[in-house]
Amino acid sequence: MTPAEKTLRSQRLNQITHEPHSKLDALVKAHAPFETRANFARFVVAQYLFQSELVDLYNDAELGAIVADLPARCRAEAAKADLADLHTEIPAPVAGALKNPSKARALGWIFVSEGSKLGAAFLIKRAVALELSETFGARHLAEPQGGRAEGWKRFVKTLDALPFSAEEEAEIEQGAIDAFNRFTVLLEQAYASEAEPA
Ligand code: HEM
Repeated sequence: MTPAEKTLRSQRLNQITHEPHSKLDALVKAHAPFETRANFARFVVAQYLFQSELVDLYNDAELGAIVADLPARCRAEAAKADLADLHTEIPAPVAGALKNPSKARALGWIFVSEGSKLGAAFLIKRAVALELSETFGARHLAEPQGGRAEGWKRFVKTLDALPFSAEEEAEIEQGAIDAFNRFTVLLEQAYASEAEPA
């Protein structure tokens, strides 16, 4: 096999997360997040919890040396502002957050968080029906500066160029799978906790 025929790391990550992504997509939709603002607020709770668990990674010096604009990609603050817009309390942390992952494992999580910005292009369009936007209530789904596709392409290019050992290759894959599992847990938790009347 010539190097050109080798499957890129990002393509492999796409393949192994295809099934968890489909399941999560279906689960998000099952909770009808665009039916009411209250439903949408629960979705934002899940997004906030997920993003806030990743704040340390987005601001990690070693990871930041790999992905130049990493801190600017973090959406925890945007999700927090959305919660305020939606008169929704900041949720307490949920046990089981990621702790001190290896570099490769951390990048698996960030791959999922960054990839979720692609689906967000569809979600923000639907949020408009609830009179929400990138400046009110749906800030965390906003198009990143410099463009969604461009930001993703830059991230993936960087990721694909990293020289990884076989062990690291396994770690990044595990990280991506774990991130999907974690989002699923947080989403279930968010909809299980009854919305406080605003
Ligand atoms: C926490 C992680 C994620 C969540 C919650 C999420 C959620 C969603 C949802 C709900 C949709 C459907 C939008 C609609 O049809 O209205 C979607 C679509 C999409 N997502 Fe994700 N996603 C996540 C991660 C990822 C990742 C890692 C990638 C890429 C590697 C990705 C790429 C896409 C793309 C390209 C779409 C557009 C439609 C499609 O091709 O299926 N997402 N996502």
